[in-house]
Order: sequence, then structure tokens, then C-alpha cells
Amino acid sequence: MQNNNSKNIQEIINHLKVSGFVYQNSEIYGGLVNTWDYGDLAVNMMTAIKKYWVREFIKKEKNFQIDSKIIMNPSVWRASGHTDNFSDFLIENKINQKRYRADHIVKDLFPEINVEKATFEELEKIIVDRVKEYDNAKCDWGTIRPFNLMFKTQLGAIDSATSTTYLRPETAQGIFLNFKNVCRTSRAKLPFGIGQIGKSFRNEITPRDFIFRTREFEQMELEFFCKENEADKFYHYWIEKCVNFVKMLGLNSENIRIRPHEKEELSHYSKGTSDIEYLFPFGWGELLGIANRGNYDLSQHMKFSQESLEYLNEDGSKIIPYVIEPSIGLDRLLFALLIDAYHVEKLADDDLRTLLKLDYNIAPNQLAIFPLTKKLADKAKEIYENILINSDIRVVYDESGSIGKRYRRQDALGTPFAITIDFDTLENNIVTIRNRDTMQQEKININEIETYLNKFEK
Ligand code: GAP
Repeated sequence: MQNNNSKNIQEIINHLKVSGFVYQNSEIYGGLVNTWDYGDLAVNMMTAIKKYWVREFIKKEKNFQIDSKIIMNPSVWRASGHTDNFSDFLIENKINQKRYRADHIVKDLFPEINVEKATFEELEKIIVDRVKEYDNAKCDWGTIRPFNLMFKTQLGAIDSATSTTYLRPETAQGIFLNFKNVCRTSRAKLPFGIGQIGKSFRNEITPRDFIFRTREFEQMELEFFCKENEADKFYHYWIEKCVNFVKMLGLNSENIRIRPHEKEELSHYSKGTSDIEYLFPFGWGELLGIANRGNYDLSQHMKFSQESLEYLNEDGSKIIPYVIEPSIGLDRLLFALLIDAYHVEKLADDDLRTLLKLDYNIAPNQLAIFPLTKKLADKAKEIYENILINSDIRVVYDESGSIGKRYRRQDALGTPFAITIDFDTLENNIVTIRNRDTMQQEKININEIETYLNKFEK
């Protein structure tokens, strides 16, 4: 069994590109730096992951969902603190005019230094004094400066400072703005949560590591509102829930750890944050975060809007609720699941088999249907179309190449089961079903296919 440190990230990325999980964005124009489009296979996986998020974070918890806008009134970002505080530290190599995130340079070259604790003056000193060559170039460093990560845009036809607004850097603020609306229309009583899934945008100085850090990404965020004296309890509840969620999707426990933030690295709004990190082949990296945001956001929006966002207790007293926020990046989660699932196995004949050991529930396709020869295509297509139209099973059909090659192709795409229709099927309705991981085969009746597969549903 391969562990993650021995997995070759470039080999995995190539596999995802070649097999159609991910395409280069704007490819015919030479691409756009670290920007990727998702193909059918990845879209299927993300749809399945979102479905489970809705079940676990919304339905089972009796929470609510909203869908707020990417572009909001610019005052939102002044109130939330993003206009003033949402920055990374940038430093430029004056020789080639390339700009980098200062903490990334230090992390890359001096892994023994805890960049989360370093001040920007310390980062600058380390880089200027000690980094004479970086990214295959000689260096002459400029001064370090904060760079705001929000994407600016203009509203309407007027091009002036008053028409400037931003693409949202997190979905969370749309939830805070609708807190009062949801209270009023749903009559929800504390504690309860409001979640949303949607795109967020950050003008990352150095988007990198494939889909780990991009400028456009999708978040699944829940803002869970509660009374102050229950905030700590729910903070721990949601940490555990998040760990269980990623394990349920199939992530190997050995590659997951919980990392509480140190005081120095807490965001401006946070009373406590824990990241759930995943062991990527390039090192531990944040997969998702759970934050106790206190009542910072609602208080700030009350101050800036002059509107009350207070919650009315049953005894008539008013409070500003505390908020626990589990925030999951879908793209990163997808990447981690694919890395975890990627295996290259040596078979008895020394042949190599590439396979994605994805959990049945999130696999891009769950079943492949093959006729043994093209002469059996009619029967095989009949079975395929029946499953495609009459069930929720994600199914594909393939009749090209030898059966062995077709199995391998589906193994490499993560399809957990493949069914072969042979000449006997025409007589007795019996097909052969093969398991991707064990390569074991069984005979089952066509009528049993759905029941057979439904056993694997979570
Ligand atoms: N509302 C809180 C919030 O946005 P965050 O830690 O900045 O917190 C939450 O982001 C999650 O969003 C991260 O754990 C990560 O999974 C994902 N994320 C953040 N920036 C990203 C980027 N540039 N590319 C891909 N995913 C990103």
C-alpha cells in the first residue's frame, strides 16, 4: 500500500488531466496561471460531495440553506474587516519583477521556521538576508508589503471609486446579512445554522499546488448561531462532525490531523480556530477550518448598517448570538480524496495497474457496463439505458477494446464495479460483476444489479 509521502504528485496531476477530471482553463490561449476547469468526472464527484454535505450539515441538523450573491454592497467588506485586514504579505524580486507570498518563500526554504508566528518584519529580514536565489533566479528583494486579496470590480456603467465593489472572498458574509431574514421567515430558535455552497474569489499572490490554491474556488460553509455559553460545546461538536464527514467520504484517518491555531495566527474575528489538515504529498495542508467567530460579524454589521441583528429570546431579552463556522473548500477536498484514492499496484505478471480507490458514494461513475463483444451491444445497451434512466446509479457504457483494457480504464477512473454481458446472458439473464479493488468476479441476475449496488450506499 502506498503512503502519501511516497506518492508522486506530478504523476497524480498528470493522471487527472489526461483522464478528464481536470482541464487547463483557456487552454487554446495558453491557459491562465493555475486556473483549472473540471470535466464530467470531477463534476460528478463534486455533486456527490455536495449532496452529502447537505445531508450531514443541513438536513440531519435541521439547519437552513441560503444562496446569496457573489457581489454585495461594498460596505459589507468594510464591516467584516476584509477591506482592512484581508491581506497576505507580498515581496518582489526586483531582478525579474516576480512577486511572491513572503510566508511561502520562508516555508519552502526554512521548514524549521514557524511562519504562522513570524511578524512581517521577521519574514522580510529572513528573505532579504538569507535568500539569494529563489525559483531558479538570482534575487534582489524589495520591501515587504500587504496585498489585499479581494478582487475589485465595478458596478454598472460608472467607473469611479463609488462604484467599486468586490467579488466575495468567502460565502459567510451573505449568511450574516440574512440572519435576521431567516429568523423572521423560519421562526428558528437558537441554536440553529444557516449554510450555503458557492463560489468565492481571492486574488492569491501565488496560486499553486494545482487545485489546492486557486483564485476561484467553491466553499461549503455553515454559520451555526448559538448562545455564548454554548459556543465552546458546539465548536468541539462541529470539529468532530467535520472529521467524521471527511472520513465518511473515504479519507484515510492516517492522513488527517486536527491543528488548533496558535494565538498569533488567529484571524481578526476568531476566538478559536482549528484546521483539519490533510497530508498532501507536498506536506500537511489546511483542508478545512472550524472557527469560533464569537459575535464579531453580527456586531460589526450592526455597527456599520445601524440595523439591529439581535436575536429575541423567549423571555424578551435580546442577544447577539455567537457563531461557530465549519468552512470547507470543495476543490481542496476533491484533491485530497483523489490523492488518497490514487494507487499504482504491481500485479502478479509484473504489470502495473493504476486505480482510484474512491468510495462507491463519491466515485465519478459507480458502474460500467460492457458487452463481451460488439455482437452483444444491444443487450448491454438495454441494461445500461434502463439503469441510466430508472435509477440514480452513475453508470457508463464501453464497448471498445478488450475486456481487460476496459477494466483497467475504469479502474483508473475509480469506477467501483463493472458488469460484463456475455452470450449466456441472452439465455439466462446472468451477468458477471467485477469489483475494482479486489478484481473478484461474481455472477448475478440482471434484476439484482440495483439491490447489489445499493448495499454500498451510505
Ligand atoms: N469563512 C471562513 C473562511 O473562508 P478560510 O480558512 O479562509 O476561512 C475556508 O477558508 C476554506 O476554503 C479553506 O479551508 C480551504 O479549504 C478553502 N480555500 C480557501 N482559500 C482557497 C483557495 N485560494 N483555493 C482553494 N481553496 C481555498
